[in-house]
Amino acid sequence: MTDFSKEIEELLSKLTLEEKITMIHGAGFFRTGEVERLNIPAFYFSDGPMGVRSEFKNDEWMPYGPDDDFVTYLPSNSAIASTWNTELAYESGKVLGEEARGRAKDMILAPGVNIKRDPRCGRNFEYLSEDPRVIERMCVPIIKGIQESDVSACVKHYAVNNQETGRMAVDTEVDERTLREIYLPGFKAALLEAGSLSVMGAYNKFRGEQCCESKVLLDKILREEWNYDGTIVSDWGGVHSTEEAANSAMDIEMSVTPDFDDYFFAKPLIKAVEDGVIAEETVNEKVRNTLRLMYRLKMLGSEVNARKAGAYNTKEHREKAYKTASESIILLKNENKILPLNKNKFKKVAVIGANADVMHSFGGGSAEIKALYEVSPLMGIKMALGGNHKVTYSKGYHVPSKAMNATESWQAESTNTDAELEYPYVIRSKPGQFAEINKGLFDEAINAAKEADVVIFVGGLDHNYDIEGKDRDDIKLPYDQDIIIEKLLDVREDMVIVLNAGSPVEMPWIDKAKSVVFTYYAGLEGGSALADVLFGDVNPSGKLSESFPYKLEDTVTYKNGQFGSKEKVVYEEGVFYGYRYYEKENINVMFPFGYGLSYTEFKYDDFNVKSCGNGSFEVCFSVENMGDVDGMEAVQVYAGENNPTVERPVKELKAFTKVSVKKGEKASVSLMLNKADFAYYDVEKKDFITNSGDYTIYIGASSSDIKFKTTVTI
Ligand code: BGC
Repeated sequence: MTDFSKEIEELLSKLTLEEKITMIHGAGFFRTGEVERLNIPAFYFSDGPMGVRSEFKNDEWMPYGPDDDFVTYLPSNSAIASTWNTELAYESGKVLGEEARGRAKDMILAPGVNIKRDPRCGRNFEYLSEDPRVIERMCVPIIKGIQESDVSACVKHYAVNNQETGRMAVDTEVDERTLREIYLPGFKAALLEAGSLSVMGAYNKFRGEQCCESKVLLDKILREEWNYDGTIVSDWGGVHSTEEAANSAMDIEMSVTPDFDDYFFAKPLIKAVEDGVIAEETVNEKVRNTLRLMYRLKMLGSEVNARKAGAYNTKEHREKAYKTASESIILLKNENKILPLNKNKFKKVAVIGANADVMHSFGGGSAEIKALYEVSPLMGIKMALGGNHKVTYSKGYHVPSKAMNATESWQAESTNTDAELEYPYVIRSKPGQFAEINKGLFDEAINAAKEADVVIFVGGLDHNYDIEGKDRDDIKLPYDQDIIIEKLLDVREDMVIVLNAGSPVEMPWIDKAKSVVFTYYAGLEGGSALADVLFGDVNPSGKLSESFPYKLEDTVTYKNGQFGSKEKVVYEEGVFYGYRYYEKENINVMFPFGYGLSYTEFKYDDFNVKSCGNGSFEVCFSVENMGDVDGMEAVQVYAGENNPTVERPVKELKAFTKVSVKKGEKASVSLMLNKADFAYYDVEKKDFITNSGDYTIYIGASSSDIKFKTTVTI
């Protein structure tokens, strides 16, 4: 990548201290200041990651007004990950980048690449996976797609930002090996492989320092080790001091309050330079990084007129959002082949559940979207069936709500560390709290279920639970849904259950249920994609990019109590969380990492693992479609060291791909594993090491459905 040093130095030499400072802090909630005299424009940001956020006034958390900021609402990062399709990740990134540019943004605050360490984390829906390899492979194409439109991605939140409780101050303590093997690979791939032009520092602390001022994370790892020359932006309100932050590699300070001149990187920084506390050269370095970003985005320099203009709300964008949604939906259970439902074989459909008839897009915190439209599951079902079927809808259970006053904003208060974040429009309920109201709703739903030919329940979580700033207390379904599901299963054991959430939920009725579908927040076409899966126009091919435990108590972070403290969280489990933990401890999970069914059956065969020298292997096999519909299958290759010198997971995901196989046909798969894929982080040597010795390579349809394994020697 060009570094534009000559042009940068020339421009830098002309800037006054005040002008330099203008460029490195917020002069509006989503922009920096401009330097008109030298034609340096203001820099415009927007959230991410499910689309470009609506416009706010410069200094008030108020909608801007005009209705020109509705956008394509894209499937969430969790949904993208569950497609296991890197091509769709790229297409989603491309849509996001084009829309961001189309809305005149310079940077889109996406993607979120934090590890889903505990299912309670409120922002899990914004993140990709529990597994670093899935995160790496999926975030690289997203970022490349975004940046093709001359707009910067901003990978977030760096680093070890895995809970919302006490988010501005909680100190995270992670041992070096775990940091390197689990929590950093996504960021490293985003910055070095995808070339993300920017990265956002996290709110939390890391080993005692605020992430946005961290010498270890920013200076040592990003700048020195990784030689990263992109721009480091703070999370909004993540900077806590002038001196510490200025002396760290942090470049641009953004925040949530309108006192822009008093930001740490505003007047106080000018004063610190004038008083000789901070060297002007320190400021220069931040300005260089900011100018370099502008040159790379063609905001400055000879190519300004060639900068891409982008586009938003195009038909093509909606089609891509639909495609991603349709491949993200996960079939968890399908006994007696209840699904797909044959439209010609039923007339009366009872759709039950609040999530069937809800708009999720305008919720979740900074990821909220003003969607051009959102096809709800109910609308998707009705659109797919047309007028010859009778579709009834009953809410099934009560969801309390609070109307939002147009002048209220959670974001203005979002950095207040004293109070648990209070959202004006978020409201949760306790089990049994609305028992009275529910009695009536339950009866109505049960009657509807009894009368219908087909019953589809659509429940799960919503953005009262999947939300920035607030974790969940447990992973149970809210609003007494478990009670109504049990009751409905008693009268209709063939009921199709659809759950929508950003993270795992407990399903205490799972043994009784015959047919269960899971969907993450799937964007504006989510309801159409769901209907197409239910009625068999789309053969489901999504797989879980995280483990679904039976209950919260099975998770290691529940057992070690290292989640949700406002002060300090020690990642005592090290690398053993998620499937790495369940496999080590032989704990049965409800649905394993990598799992998802199809309407067809795939037969894996012709296994051949060839050594290619130098510790690398080509893993070959075939996947045959044995059923009578075309399908797609995400195939996975895991590896584990047989006699490790440090304790290592039984196996870890190393490679995957998704193959499309027509009925009766066979596809061949070839995946490469290199020596580095077998490595662990050696704390003494401060490097990744691959021991000589034996390793097991596993080929599977999920982490627990292993079709073949073999020992190789390095
Ligand atoms: C969030 C970021 C977001 C920023 C700007 C913060 O509250 O943590 O993810 O990009 O606000 O809205």
